[in-house]
Amino acid sequence: MGVDSFLNRLKVDKQVIERAEFNPYYNCIESGLEDPVIVDGKQYINLAANNYLGLGADIRVKKAAINAVKKYGISMCGTPVATGYIELYRRVEREISKFLTLEDTVILPSCYQANNGLFAAIARKEDLILVDHYAHSSLIEGIKCVGCKIRPFLHNNTNHLEKILKNSSKYRQIFIVTESVFSTEGSIAPLKEIYELGMKYGAVTVVDDSHGIGVIGKSGRGILEDSGIEDFKGIYTASLGKAIGVSGGIISGNKEIIEYLRYFCPQLVYSTGISPALLGAVEKVLEIIEKEFDILGKKLWDYRDIIRNRLVLNGFDLCDGMAPIISIKTGDALRTVLLAKSFYNRRILTTPFVEPSVPPNEGRLRLIAGANLSKKSIDKVTSLIDEIGRDI
Ligand SMILES: Cc1ncc(COP(=O)(O)O)c(C=O)c1O
Repeated sequence: MGVDSFLNRLKVDKQVIERAEFNPYYNCIESGLEDPVIVDGKQYINLAANNYLGLGADIRVKKAAINAVKKYGISMCGTPVATGYIELYRRVEREISKFLTLEDTVILPSCYQANNGLFAAIARKEDLILVDHYAHSSLIEGIKCVGCKIRPFLHNNTNHLEKILKNSSKYRQIFIVTESVFSTEGSIAPLKEIYELGMKYGAVTVVDDSHGIGVIGKSGRGILEDSGIEDFKGIYTASLGKAIGVSGGIISGNKEIIEYLRYFCPQLVYSTGISPALLGAVEKVLEIIEKEFDILGKKLWDYRDIIRNRLVLNGFDLCDGMAPIISIKTGDALRTVLLAKSFYNRRILTTPFVEPSVPPNEGRLRLIAGANLSKKSIDKVTSLIDEIGRDI
């Protein structure tokens, strides 16, 4: 024990990065999310951002953020229960709830924080939480805080889920936790079946729609619209930092539960309220989605199909996901990083997932082509995919 041994213990294992002679992480971007982005003074096509609708650098959204700063400043320097709750905050809570057709919403600085705080507020030791085996770190870490029994169910497997539900009667409350669109696989949860199972066995469904909001559903309202679920009696969370193109996290649902969280979710109550700039930006994005989802969504899905088909043509092994997340199965960490390097050397940014983000040897290289990319960039990507395909 001692300070020196502590400092020596916490070292990042960089063997894979050294063998690949490439570090794909913490790339320093020198521009906004325009197409192309600038890295190290050079132009790159960005297939790494979650900027599905391409609104992250939209001029109208920037202006809305600036207007909010002009009115309120950068920060209200207070938690939402104190001075951090402004009329714009309340308005955006209501607009998000209306957008999702849910009763009420709270807004936190991130969805990581939302998922982290939710379970400690709603669950107790005597409960049971069933969670999809591929659920995001924020859900898993949030669930672990409760100290209750946790049982993973096989990814998107409702038969396995029902089997566990049938044999779980001794708990005060059961929760079923899933993502909507899985961030590393691009698979979409069979939420309607999951929710109906929950209702049948008295279990509360919690869905994280971070990669679904603004992406799926006929008008971009996410998983509830996509699954045709009305009058949802579960709990809904989502990030505002992906298709919404801003930053922040939400928890939405029944008004009594949301009111409870306003007072008893520590991650909300004890953390400085989300910046007015971000609230102003979210408000504008919701307005844009209402008016332009047909066009933006079509581009997003068309780009997904073009890139996906080209990868298949070149023999890449892809996950079956139906979402506009294209995930290449890459095996071990070295192969994953080397494939990211092949793209990077051709000026394309991608997201490599290695352990512990995915199970060992189940590496993924994720590509997301946002609606802000030009057709010229997509054409360039497809011809470079041919080149990479030939090389490997
Ligand atoms: C499924 C999922 N949930 C939650 C989060 C966290 O969202 P945020 O970036 O708003 O903290 C992410 C982001 O990576 C995610 O992919």
